[in-house]
Amino acid sequence: MSRIHWILYFIGALLETVFRLVGILFWSFLPSLKRKSICQEIVLITGGGHGIGREIALAFAHHKPKHIVIWGRKKSYLDETASLISKLGVSCLPMICDVSCAEDICVKAEEVSNRVGSVSILVNNAGVVFGKQLLDTSDSDILQTFRVNTLAHLYTIKQFLPSMIENRRGHLVSINSILGMVGLRGATDYCSSKFASSGISASLCQELEDYPDIHVTSVHPYQVNNDMFSGVTIRFPWLFPILTEEYVAQKTVNAVLVNKKQILLPRIWYFIVWMQSLLPVSTLLPVLKFTGAATCMETFHKPSSTLQPSVQHSTAQHTKTH
Ligand SMILES: NC(=O)c1ccc[n+]([C@@H]2O[C@H](COP(=O)([O-])OP(=O)(O)OC[C@H]3O[C@@H](n4cnc5c(N)ncnc54)[C@H](OP(=O)(O)O)[C@@H]3O)[C@@H](O)[C@H]2O)c1
Repeated sequence: MSRIHWILYFIGALLETVFRLVGILFWSFLPSLKRKSICQEIVLITGGGHGIGREIALAFAHHKPKHIVIWGRKKSYLDETASLISKLGVSCLPMICDVSCAEDICVKAEEVSNRVGSVSILVNNAGVVFGKQLLDTSDSDILQTFRVNTLAHLYTIKQFLPSMIENRRGHLVSINSILGMVGLRGATDYCSSKFASSGISASLCQELEDYPDIHVTSVHPYQVNNDMFSGVTIRFPWLFPILTEEYVAQKTVNAVLVNKKQILLPRIWYFIVWMQSLLPVSTLLPVLKFTGAATCMETFHKPSSTLQPSVQHSTAQHTKTH
C-alpha cells in the first residue's frame, strides 16, 4: 500500500471510531429507544439456582422470555428459583449441571436443545473463589477455579454459539468481576481466572464482528453483599459501597437489552481502571495499603453453608472445605 493509502485508511479508521463514540453517547441518553424485546429468546443461566444468578434469572423473567433454563449443582436451589420464575408467568427448566465438567456441559447442552430449543441468550455466571495466597492454594483448587470461572465459559459458548450463528440471533453474557481487571492479594487464582474470562469476552467481540445480530456483554461487578466474599471489608466502605445481587442483576439485564458490550459496577471503577492503566504499578501499592485493599482477603472466610459438593463425574473436581 502506498503512503497516501495508509493516510486515507487511518483517517477512515479515525472517523469510524468517532462515529461509533457519538453513537454510544447518543444511545446512552436514550436507552429506552434501543431496548430490544426478548420475548422470543431462550435464556440459559449457569449458577442460576442462587446468588446473583438467581436474581439475573428473575430480572430476565420480568421481560417475559420464551423460556429460562437454569443450571447449577443443588436441586433444592434450582427448584426454588424455577418456582419463583414460574410465578412470574415464564416457563423454567431447572437442570443439574456441573460446569466444571466439560462432558456434563456437552450432555446437558444437547438435552436443552432437545427439550426447549436453541439457547439464544447464554449467561455464564457460575463462579467459585477459594481466597488464599497462591502458595497456600492447592493445585486442585486452582484447577476447579479455572474450570468453573474460565473453561466453562469457553465450553458453553462452543456448545451454543453455532446455533446462534445459524439463527442469526444471540447474546453471550459473562459475569466477570472487577477482579478481572484489577489484581488482589489473596485471590491470585480467582483474579487470573477472571482476567482470562474477561479476555474471552474481549476477543469474541472481535471474532463476532461479522455477525451483527450476535452480541457480547461482559459484566464486572465490585463486591456483592452475599457469601462469596464473606468477611472481606476495606477501610472506606462509603467510597466503595458493597453492591446488592438485585442491583448487579438489574444492570446486567439492562446492558443486555441495549447490547452494551461491557459494564463496570459501580461506575467509579471506570475511573480507577483508567488510572491503573496510566500509573506505574509501584505507585498503586501504597493506595492499596491505605484503602485496606491489600489486606482485605485476610478476613475472608468461606461459610460452610455455601460449600456444595460437586455432582459426581469422572472428570469433575470437588470443592474443598477450608
Ligand atoms: N459475590 C461477589 O462479591 C462477586 C463480585 C464480582 C463478581 N462475582 C461473580 O458473580 C458470579 C456469581 O457469584 P455469586 O456472588 O452469586 O456467588 P455465589 O452465591 O457463591 O454463587 C455461585 C453460583 O455458582 C454456581 N456454581 C459454582 N460452582 C458450580 C459448578 N461447578 N457447576 C455449576 N454451578 C456452579 C453456584 O451454584 P450451585 O451452588 O448450585 O452449584 C451458584 O449459583 C460469579 O461468577 C462471581 O465470580 C461475584
